[in-house]
Parts: sequence; C-alpha cells; structure tokens
Amino acid sequence: MYKFVIEGGIPLKGEVAVSGSKNAALPILCSSILSDGICRYTNIPRLKDIDTIIKLLSILGVEIKMDENNVVSVNPGRIKAFEAPYELVKSMRASILILGPLLARYKQAKVSLPGGCAIGVRPIDLHLKALIKMGADIDVSHGYVLAKTSGLKGERIIFDKPTVGGTENIMMAATLAKGTTVIEGAAREPEIKDLADALNGMGARIEGAGESTVVIEGVDSLSGVEHRVIPDRIEAGTFMAAAAITGGLVEIKGVNVNHLAAVVEKLKEMGVGIVEKGDASVYVDGRGGVGPIDVETAPYPGFPTDMQAQIMALACVANGASSITENIFENRFMHVPELMRMGAQLEEKGNTVLVKGISRLQGASVMATDLRASASLVLAGLNAKGRTELRRIYHLERGYEDLDGKLRMLGAGIERQVGGI
Ligand code: UD1
Repeated sequence: MYKFVIEGGIPLKGEVAVSGSKNAALPILCSSILSDGICRYTNIPRLKDIDTIIKLLSILGVEIKMDENNVVSVNPGRIKAFEAPYELVKSMRASILILGPLLARYKQAKVSLPGGCAIGVRPIDLHLKALIKMGADIDVSHGYVLAKTSGLKGERIIFDKPTVGGTENIMMAATLAKGTTVIEGAAREPEIKDLADALNGMGARIEGAGESTVVIEGVDSLSGVEHRVIPDRIEAGTFMAAAAITGGLVEIKGVNVNHLAAVVEKLKEMGVGIVEKGDASVYVDGRGGVGPIDVETAPYPGFPTDMQAQIMALACVANGASSITENIFENRFMHVPELMRMGAQLEEKGNTVLVKGISRLQGASVMATDLRASASLVLAGLNAKGRTELRRIYHLERGYEDLDGKLRMLGAGIERQVGGI
C-alpha cells in the first residue's frame, strides 16, 4: 500500500493541466457496446476506475485498449458474456452503467448489485423502475440484477429525484429502443451532455441532454465514433481549492469554467481571486487569504457534492465561521474526524457541519476513507504546519490522475511512499 507524505506550508505556484473527466469517461466507455463500429475516445484520464471499466468491458468480450496518449480504442464486436461480476462492481459502483447498454443491444444483462458504499446507501431503484417501464423483466436475487427483454420500447420516464447514473443508463438504453423516450426530472450534469454528444456522434437522436427534459428517439443501430471527453471539473475545482488553501497563485489549464460556475462563485465569495484567461484557462489567486462561507450541495448547476469535502478543508482555515450542508448523500462527512485530528474546529449537526476557522491546520497521521474525502485531507496537509501522512491513498487514485506529480510541479512538498495500512 502507498501513502502520501506531505510537508505543508508551501504556497503553490505555476500552472497545471486538468485531465479528462472520470465521470464522463465511465459512461462513455460503457456506451461503446451500443455501437456496431470502432470507437475512439481521447482525453481519457489514467485512473484506477478507468482500468476497472476497461477490465469489465474486456470480460464481456470487447476488444479495448488504452494507449500512452490517453486514447481508448474500442472494437465492440459481438460480445459473448453479459455479466458484470461482484468483484468489479463492488470496487466501482459506476459498473452499473453497463446495464442499460447491455439490455438495449443484447436484450439481457446480469449485473451485481453495487451494495452499500462508504458515502451512503446509494440505491439503484430509479434505474430499475425506468427499465421495467421500458419493457425489461427484472429479477433481483442472490445479489445480482438479472434483466432481460424481448425489446425495449420508448416511454415517458419521470425521475422523482435527479439521478446522474439513472439518467445516463436510461439515455443509453433508449438510443436503441423502439419509439421515443422522454426523461423528465433528468439530472443536468455536464457529463450527461458529454455522453449524449458521444452517442449522437454514433447516430443516436438525443435532444435536451443537460436540461431536465431529455428526448431520445430510438434508432435501429449505432455506428463508430471519435469523441474527446470533457475536462474533469472536480479535479479543476480541487486545484482551485489547493491554490487557495496554500495562499498560492496557480494557472489551471484545459478547464471549462462554465462547468464550475457554482464553485467559482463560492470561492470568490471567500475572497479567492479567480480570473478567466481565454476559453480554457483560469488564474486562481489565494494570496489574500480566505473568508468564511455557507455552502449547500445540490444537483447541478448547484454546488457539487463532489467538492463538499474540499471546500470544507478550505473553510477550516477561513477567517470566521462557515456552515457546510450535504444534501445529496447521507454519510458524506467521513473527512470530519480526520480534519479534526489536524486541528480543525468542526461540529457536525445532522447534515450540516459548522466550521470555526483557525489560522492554520497541524500535520498529523490521517486516513483516506473515500475519494473526495481523501482530496480534502491532501488539501489540509498542504496547508498544515509540519508533516501529514495520508494512508489508504488508493481511494484517491480511483479518481485523480497523478495528483502528487501535478502538485509537485506546483512546488508542493508531497511524496508517494510505500507504507501504511
Ligand atoms: C454520480 C457521480 C458521483 C456524484 C453523484 C452526485 C459518477 C460515476 N458518479 O453518482 O461522483 O457524487 O453523481 O452528483 O458519475 N438515488 C436513488 N435511487 C437511484 C439512484 C440514485 O435514490 O436509483 C439517490 C442517491 O442515493 C443520491 C441521489 O439519488 O442520494 C443522487 O445519486 P446519483 O445522481 O444517482 O449519483 P451517482 O450516479 O451514483
């Protein structure tokens, strides 16, 4: 196992390039099995979660490979297996995104239930309800979803709450269904629009992706596609917070700032200087220190739950009292006790954390618990006086490409070392 050893207190300086979006790449790679032709995807991030989805597609019989330029080529062929096994699904919940494409193209699928996970129960009932309405027979037994259909048909699907994965699964299934599917109450995340762009490039007929009503007209078949994945807005937001928490000055490149409007607004309210430079670059100036903030997570375009832990780390060293409320997942405060070990003054009250800002955190041994919680502990370590050891960084490596390397390029004192449990 690896750990990060961080010597805090160095203001970050320089420029950093953002990788492709993990949460766009995962559904897009799953969507390749809907196609009859060769698909070529660029700007795929080099991550553990991407390795997992590539492994899953290989198990199904898809020819897939990633080259050194972060390009993934897929020859979906005719696949021979239809099962997403527990070993893969348990390590990455997004494996459930194979369900819609398998059912639509091959009329059958067996996918392990994702089960509980560190940040809450995270059911898939909305995915299943919608697929049943579209004509799937679904049986959940022995920890697996067994699904088959004589052919999916277009339907009106109303989601009671916006679900990113649910919207993606149904959108993919609907591309090859008979007739028109209308999704109401759809999630509006940029990753959904990116998936729709990739599917439309294959010949799908999707309108309204990125809005709350999405209309998909089913087609008979889909062809190959060449598609470039959007930048990772959460990675970009994490680097913004890193610049701010170290009092640094960083240029973040290859970012789509429109996707980060809610994060930029909150950081500006905290007093962080953020100036866009052209289309895809932004300067983040944390040299003036940070003030307190009230944040509530919400579905896009609201403040992302995937940035909640990072903004909390920043609020820990704000000049005043902040309040951070988590509205999407019920157990997403696992970074709280770890941040407290580093001297943070936090009080958890239901789904809100009250933060009393202090001037600086202290280095300590802490444990990564989930992907974004780990990112907040790296940020805390970059600020802290003294040495921080962050163990279980495999959580981080699921979702950040070369985080320590990129931070070192900005001058941070961070090393990846063998050790820790
Ligand atoms: C995706 C993102 C994840 C992000 C989350 C919310 C990927 C691979 N992951 O996760 O990083 O934190 O969106 O922005 O893109 N729900 C149900 N029933 C369902 C489905 C969801 O009750 O069938 C609930 C969930 O428990 C949660 C809320 O809906 O409370 C939103 O979940 P959802 O948008 O589906 O998250 P994911 O797609 O799993």
